[in-house]
Amino acid sequence: MIGGIDENHDHRGPQIAYNRSRMSARETALALTRWFAAAQRDLPWRKTRDPYAIWVSEVMLQQTRVDTVEGYYDGFLRRFPDVESLAAADEDAVLSAWSGLGYYRRARLLHRGARHVVEALNGELPADAVDLRRIPGIGPYTAGAIASIAFDRPEPLVDGNVARVLSRFHAIEDPAGQDAKARRHWDEVAEIVQHGRPRVLTQALMELGATVCTPQRPRCEDCPLQPRCRAHALGRAADIMVTRRKASVRTERYHALLLRCGDRVLLAKRPEGGLLAGLWCPPLVPRQGRRRLPTAAAVEQLLGAGVDVRGAASRDVKHVFTHRIWHLTPCVGGWPRRPRLALEGAAWVPLGGLPVGGVPTVTKKLLGVLEDDGQ
Ligand code: ADE
Repeated sequence: MIGGIDENHDHRGPQIAYNRSRMSARETALALTRWFAAAQRDLPWRKTRDPYAIWVSEVMLQQTRVDTVEGYYDGFLRRFPDVESLAAADEDAVLSAWSGLGYYRRARLLHRGARHVVEALNGELPADAVDLRRIPGIGPYTAGAIASIAFDRPEPLVDGNVARVLSRFHAIEDPAGQDAKARRHWDEVAEIVQHGRPRVLTQALMELGATVCTPQRPRCEDCPLQPRCRAHALGRAADIMVTRRKASVRTERYHALLLRCGDRVLLAKRPEGGLLAGLWCPPLVPRQGRRRLPTAAAVEQLLGAGVDVRGAASRDVKHVFTHRIWHLTPCVGGWPRRPRLALEGAAWVPLGGLPVGGVPTVTKKLLGVLEDDGQ
């Protein structure tokens, strides 16, 4: 995983000699505590101690910007106010509340985890990080977040932001040592959280990385750790962990079929196992060369019915995923009466409405083209 959180690792292993004094961990904790009290952002998930709400916020925040999550967090909790209501929901309702947040696997895992908590743990999230990690979808980061933030337990967590703060603090230049999975970072945070309020200290480290010790142009003048930061002393702060490793990105081109029947448009759930699995999307036909329209044979093979694809819409749609870029050429067409289709998971959705279930942003963009074209 690039630049994000990989929950599939175990940071506990043989102890590695590590030359930090207890005193300096105490100083670090004190500096972080003072700074966080003055500088923390006012965020909705900081107003609660409810472990379920904190779990939801932490899952949403993985791979997603704070300002995006702010637009979803309250709505999700209104719809699923506790672990019981989430466990009782069907998957389409959960994906629907998640629509637009991306990385839908997170929503499915959260849902699965909620069911486990209700079925096996009497609806109670445990406070202990080892017990938390037995819940499906909860790895070392999320367990550390729930244990420290909700329960104020002295448990460590390291995400990409914390890894950058600590890598700069010690001027670690080796990429393996900079990684969020590096044992040294976890050990150091485990020591820091012994010296104050764990719920303050883990969040302060993450906040510092998010707002001050940023990948580009860190604001060292505002940093509480600057007096003892090795990278700063060496003039290397802006050079260490400055860019994320670039994922290899593949570009794919499709014709997106925007097919109508009366005031409805055809969508289908994407096949399991692939990108946007189980989410609603117009049928896509791989685009051959520079053709403006798909061949009749390719359309018929996908839908199991012939259709007159009349023309391309006014504009193309580009959508960027982590490892993939889609260039989509929307093509409009339709039938006067409902055809019999062989397309799996197909549904006729009223124009201007949305189906129940996950509707990814790329689908909203494509339906927006249809609307803008007045089709
Ligand atoms: N990133 C993820 N969770 C966070 C939190 N609780 N505080 C600051 N940054 C975060």
